[in-house]
Amino acid sequence: MFGNTEEYDRDRNGFLERCHSEYGDVFSFDARTIVVSSPDQVHALLTRTNKDFLAENSPLAGRVDTERMAADAELWTTTRRAGWQGLHRRVAQAHAERLREVFFKTVGDGEMDVLATMTDFFGRATADFCLSADAEGVPETLAENVAAIDPLSRDSLQLPPWWPSRRVRRFARSRKRLLALMSDIVRRRRQAGDPSAQDLLSVLLASGDRELSDLQIERFLRGIMLAALGVPATAFTWIVYELTTRPDVLARLEAEAASAGDVPVVEELPYTEAFVKEVLRLWPPTWLIGRTVRRETELDGWRLKTGDQVLFSLYRLHRDPRWWSDPDRLVPERWLEPHVAPVRHTYLPFGAGPRVCVGTQLGMMQLTLATFWLVSYMDLARPQETAIVPDFSGLLVPRDLRVRSRRKAARQSA
Ligand code: HEM
Repeated sequence: MFGNTEEYDRDRNGFLERCHSEYGDVFSFDARTIVVSSPDQVHALLTRTNKDFLAENSPLAGRVDTERMAADAELWTTTRRAGWQGLHRRVAQAHAERLREVFFKTVGDGEMDVLATMTDFFGRATADFCLSADAEGVPETLAENVAAIDPLSRDSLQLPPWWPSRRVRRFARSRKRLLALMSDIVRRRRQAGDPSAQDLLSVLLASGDRELSDLQIERFLRGIMLAALGVPATAFTWIVYELTTRPDVLARLEAEAASAGDVPVVEELPYTEAFVKEVLRLWPPTWLIGRTVRRETELDGWRLKTGDQVLFSLYRLHRDPRWWSDPDRLVPERWLEPHVAPVRHTYLPFGAGPRVCVGTQLGMMQLTLATFWLVSYMDLARPQETAIVPDFSGLLVPRDLRVRSRRKAARQSA
């Protein structure tokens, strides 16, 4: 009845790896799901999204209604286009000063559960970026929503929205609370018409001739804030893991940081940026990506029916020895040699195509600067040198990573 699910749930990554080596670049997981692995198949899947495939990320099961999903995708795409200019590199960099304040409010002396601390940091950072002075109460409500989604999205067998369980009720309640809060903020901001606000909401409200409804804005903001919390927090947890595991890399990061000001631009930190890219290659938080077939089609010769699922593992793609030398080793230097660019479509930590991550620039800026502040101002140590186990049950996280952080006596600078 449950097909391969039980074996898969025991060791998700191991199961996909075994199937790949046994059956090759395409194999079926069950009667309605295939898994693809080659860079060209993955790229085709991502770039044909919206047209032939649909992206949906509800943690609850629903009847597969591709017409409804396609209509939702179209509405989302319109809002996404309007929001784009509020998320590009220049706007992201302008937020760096405030990000620094948020960083030092969250990360201090003492022992921390890294994922919990980073979830707190990115929750505050994203609420501030999207809503600035109106962000009060948002990080807490957001965190509640994320905590309610987490157990549902870890489960391979999705529950329907009517399922009588505490988990489903908790999710529905927290989602409603977050949307109500967004709705209240959008209404107040529209009424106040404050032209001085400099945040994503102000860009969405001023979207000119493509005027967006309040409902569109509320849903987009919720989507952005959820996406900008768990994934970057997880990526940063892996960064901390590598900082406490590779003293040679840490020394190079410290050396680069010593010659930069307090709030540098990313271009001043080429080694730090290369390190972040390399951590995202080794440990992509969104390690497994899926699509639903919108209408009968084929992918690399495989016939697919409406409602079928196609999956691929970003983790496996990023560590495939056919495309990467020394694939399991952290080598930031590989990003500093532009003449040895990676093979096409083999590095996709932010996805690709029409549903590529809208926060790519902001996310890279946040991770690079937060790494810079951490190595400049804090000494880190792991309380116990135990091996860290990667957990593939939801986002890819290092399970139970704890570190002790202590402010450096003085920041070393040139
Ligand atoms: C910093 C690390 C980040 C990583 C590694 C990352 C990764 C990704 C990936 C792989 C996808 C595509 C998923 C798919 O194809 O199904 C995605 C989508 C998305 N990301 Fe990010 N992301 C990051 C940061 C952010 C930030 C800071 C924001 C907010 C500004 C953001 C907002 C979004 C949104 C809204 C989507 C959905 C786009 C759509 O479906 O149209 N992400 N992200």
